[in-house]
Amino acid sequence: MTFLKHAWYVAAHVHELAEGLVSRTICNEPIVMYRTESGAVAALQDRCPHRFVPLSMGKRVGDTLQCGYHGLAFDTTGACASAPNDPQQQARICVKAYAVEERYNIVWLWMGAPETADPALIPAFDFLSDTEHYAVARGYSHIKANYELLTDNLLDLSHVHYLHSGVHDEVHFSQFDNKLKVEGDTVWSMLWRNNYPLNPAKQKMMELPFPIVDGQGHSRWNPPANILVDTAYWQQGTSAQDGLRSPSAHLFTPETESTTHYFWASGRTNDIHNEPRTRVTEERMKLLFETEDGPMCEAQQAYLGTETDFLDAKPIILKADAAGVAARRVTRRKRREEAALFAGGTGGAAVLPEPDARPVSGDKLRVEI
Ligand code: FES
Ligand SMILES: [Fe+2]
Repeated sequence: MTFLKHAWYVAAHVHELAEGLVSRTICNEPIVMYRTESGAVAALQDRCPHRFVPLSMGKRVGDTLQCGYHGLAFDTTGACASAPNDPQQQARICVKAYAVEERYNIVWLWMGAPETADPALIPAFDFLSDTEHYAVARGYSHIKANYELLTDNLLDLSHVHYLHSGVHDEVHFSQFDNKLKVEGDTVWSMLWRNNYPLNPAKQKMMELPFPIVDGQGHSRWNPPANILVDTAYWQQGTSAQDGLRSPSAHLFTPETESTTHYFWASGRTNDIHNEPRTRVTEERMKLLFETEDGPMCEAQQAYLGTETDFLDAKPIILKADAAGVAARRVTRRKRREEAALFAGGTGGAAVLPEPDARPVSGDKLRVEI
């Protein structure tokens, strides 16, 4: 499977960088991230070109990252800033550097050549940094399944009625109105939960003292696999803006073809200063993803084995799969477009540089011994 290069992948929650160097494999590439003295986030290939040890075993020195083995140091562009034991080689040594953006309390990484990175393509997740209106629970789970299987999971919320007992027990998915909407590269699974029954416990939790409300659970997908689920419930006769909003982010970043970094977050507009409640939500979400959704997708992956495109395995497609299929189609189209760009077959359009053509290691260096 080829991963999209010209796309923003979530590489970390911002708070992770406060703890020092963060090493993470993304699309099969080992990457180390760190915050410089000036406060910017840098991302470099996590492999020293000398002896191929992880640079994350080294340390930050000023704005550079110094290898822990023999001291080669690299700046944020990947250029060698210091080669203490062989200064004459310094100008020829480098590692791959990645374009990074810090937005919505998320570190976003562009896997293509840095000069092709377009921050305008980062999808909006305003609630993640809107501390005035939202309390946000957030966390991370590692899932042993292909990232597109996780996308399918979030774009088909009919699974909630079977996999997550207690969430929508009083109502069946077929009572909801579910429609597909595709706008360019953006796919929506629009879900209206009108005439939604609230038991007394839910009324109390949502601060909506009504036995019947209206609701929505619209899922928005942007490539490669960043999903917003815009959930809200409100008193009938009013609007979503007047009710309880609880948007959630489900940000899937492939580690390898069969493993995924799952960055998740959920916001709420009520009781927003209640920190213990937010921590409890984090524990519940982690438990839900790691004991219910995660194992289901991992079992699916185990059956698929080395099959890397689920649609090639000819599954039965149900009505609620429409958005998942549409997202896979967008990804396939974008893969074809990238392949054409890298091959130069653009019919006159600008040819983007092949990301992997940049020097990434010292293995091309000739050393006189
Ligand atoms: S392995 Fe990094 S400097 Fe030798
Ligand atoms: Fe789920």
